[in-house]
Amino acid sequence: MSSSGKVLIVDDDRFVRMALCEALKSWQYETVEADSVASAMKAFADAEPVIVLLDIDLPDGSGLDVLKEIKTTSPETIAVMITGNVDVANTVAALRGGAHDFIGKPVRIEELRVTLRNAAETRELRREVNRVRTASKRGFSFEEIIGESDSMKKAIDLARRVAASDVGSILLNGETGTGKDLFARAIHYASERSNAPYLAINCAALPANLIESELFGYEKGAFTDAKQKKEGLFEQANGGTIFLDEIGEMELALQAKLLRVLEEGTFRRVGGLKDISLNARIIAASNRNLKQESEAGNFRLDLYFRLSVIQVDIPPLRDRGKDVLLLAKYYIDRANLKRRGKLLIGLAPEVEKIFTNYKWSGNVRELRNVIERASILEDGDTVTAAHLPADMLGTFSAHSSGSGMFTLPMDGVPLESVEFELVRQAFERTNGNLTRAAKLLDISRDQLRYKLRKAGYDAEA
Ligand SMILES: Nc1ncnc2c1ncn2[C@@H]1O[C@H](COP(=O)(O)OP(=O)(O)OP(=O)(O)O)[C@@H](O)[C@H]1O
Ligand SMILES: [Mg+2]
Repeated sequence: MSSSGKVLIVDDDRFVRMALCEALKSWQYETVEADSVASAMKAFADAEPVIVLLDIDLPDGSGLDVLKEIKTTSPETIAVMITGNVDVANTVAALRGGAHDFIGKPVRIEELRVTLRNAAETRELRREVNRVRTASKRGFSFEEIIGESDSMKKAIDLARRVAASDVGSILLNGETGTGKDLFARAIHYASERSNAPYLAINCAALPANLIESELFGYEKGAFTDAKQKKEGLFEQANGGTIFLDEIGEMELALQAKLLRVLEEGTFRRVGGLKDISLNARIIAASNRNLKQESEAGNFRLDLYFRLSVIQVDIPPLRDRGKDVLLLAKYYIDRANLKRRGKLLIGLAPEVEKIFTNYKWSGNVRELRNVIERASILEDGDTVTAAHLPADMLGTFSAHSSGSGMFTLPMDGVPLESVEFELVRQAFERTNGNLTRAAKLLDISRDQLRYKLRKAGYDAEA
């Protein structure tokens, strides 16, 4: 039969301890004993019990001090006070100090049993509250991820299958703004771990030693500031998911430690000697190509191999075909919710063209920003090129040194957008005079009219 949990019994009376031990063992609890404040503190730190039965009058001090230590280092632990003389001041102090309950001496076994059952329920209740809290964090499911292009469908499909499986680590690879964060949460909330915590840490935002103690936790005295033992994310996740964002930025020495955790399934707190088993799933994300980084010596190749067993590649927006327009529509609908004037109905045809050809180096995040901006500036009911950021239109520079030739930008430019922009400028410079605009561009009026129509202008002039 599996254990009901570990109970620490603190009492200086050997016979009381014996009686309690016997009863607890018969109810499948594991027991640990202590007979003083000092030994209780030590036993508490070593054994990490779920319940502590605590006498108040101890030879070297008060059980209330032990209670305080318990509640500061591990608030989840249930403390039940056991005392011979029910003293009001002590009772109040203990309850204020976070004691779960009180039982008088001599301990009646039935009473103890009921108290422990209540304690277990309290713990369960606390967990339940957490569960409700996480369940209410909606909006993190795969349904929220927009994408119908083949490459995106493939990524979503793989991520779904991985979520449902029991793989311990996953690597999400994709440029900035492609949705790595979104994927990580969707994987967590679609998995059996969804009731346990989802904890994220950004490896680029903290120095290595802080990341280490955040992840692994530390023992009291492990370093100067370690005044109390602290549980790290590996422990706090408690069956949940840990998201290691920007893992490419993690220092090599820490990468080695992480690899060890993944390989062995155990870790130690900083300054600790006890192996603790890892039961969290690790999702790592990087916007750099970790394979190349490993080959260049910036990332541990062995860690890369370990992580990339399950690798989900999230494609850049420019390679996602019609998804750009789908996402634009989505963000337009969202913008409409906040809009005061006319509702936006969509993109002007020339904008659709620019959108499908643009490089989107900031991916979905950039698209979202572009739409938000346009929704503020636009007076009409469509997003027009006039309210796109200048660098989306004019990636080509004006002609160079009088030769009359345009310089092709380093990363290229969609020809149609260049043409559209020149047509637009000619049209505007001539106040819409087709004949003069056509002359500026050295084409016929018919050709110009055709190009204008193609770019979404209704030129009947
Ligand atoms: N397929 C998608 N469907 C809907 N929204 C998306 C999609 N992809 C990304 N987003 C949105 O784009 C924004 C950026 O996504 P996210 O933060 O997940 O990117 P990231 O890959 O983590 O970027 P970074 O590398 O910069 O951290 C978020 O607002 C997210 O909701
Ligand atoms: Mg991110």
